[in-house]
Amino acid sequence: MLNPVRLEQEKIETALNTARQQAYLPFSLHLYETVNSTNQTLWELLQNGATSGTVVIATEQTAGRGQWGRQWLSQSGGLYISTAIALTLDVINSYQLTFATAWGITRQLQKCNIPVGIKWPNDLILNQRKLGGILTETKISGNKINRAVIGVGINWSNPVPDTGINLQSWQKLHHVTGITNLENLATQVLLGIESGIECLLEKGIDILLPRYTNLLTNIGNSVYVENLLGTVIGVTSSGCLHVRMENSESKSVRTPDFYLQPGTISLGYSNSSN
Ligand code: BTN
Repeated sequence: MLNPVRLEQEKIETALNTARQQAYLPFSLHLYETVNSTNQTLWELLQNGATSGTVVIATEQTAGRGQWGRQWLSQSGGLYISTAIALTLDVINSYQLTFATAWGITRQLQKCNIPVGIKWPNDLILNQRKLGGILTETKISGNKINRAVIGVGINWSNPVPDTGINLQSWQKLHHVTGITNLENLATQVLLGIESGIECLLEKGIDILLPRYTNLLTNIGNSVYVENLLGTVIGVTSSGCLHVRMENSESKSVRTPDFYLQPGTISLGYSNSSN
């Protein structure tokens, strides 16, 4: 087995301090070698008094959690990071936290010359393959979210499935050195989370949504919904994918557009059928 890739806390803290004049999220880093899930570990820290801005990073996860109850394979070499946010947000708007994070991280990686895009709702895409994903978990009181844990997994040098891509190999192949190591990747991800959450909480979803939509790789793609062919034309203010259906010549009445909730359709990758 390969030696586990350990991250150096001080390198991340120094880089964050250099990059930020003012901190919007008061990051406090907790690094571990092996945890079941960084999201789970962070919820436990929060229960024991940790505050907004607490960050958990692990070398590997034994039970990494993905969206829709899936498993997130988490061998050493990948980035596994979770950040706690205190806020007040209507439960129906929880998707906004994922959009904000996806937008912020994607912009930050683009600034490092990595041409990342977003596959609705939460996938970070490079070269039409999955570079990473976001899992937002929330605590609710009444109909309001008052705490969130935002978990991000990004493939750096870890093995990936056929539909995935790892950033270190991609950079070597394309002679790009945008990201230098895992500490640098963690720093960029934290800066991205911070800018996304700041945009959402200070400017609002009306500003964030067009920024997020601009980075989507899905716009204009053909999709089948209930066996009918349509084209992705955008995302609504409630986070649904807006699909315009093709009209067959024989039909005099237009097929109504579809508005799909996250998790109700799988948009797939160029080299797979799922
Ligand atoms: C997805 O399915 O696309 C989301 C994957 C999110 C994985 C990350 S890894 C760090 C954090 N801890 C977890 O258990 N999951 C998230």
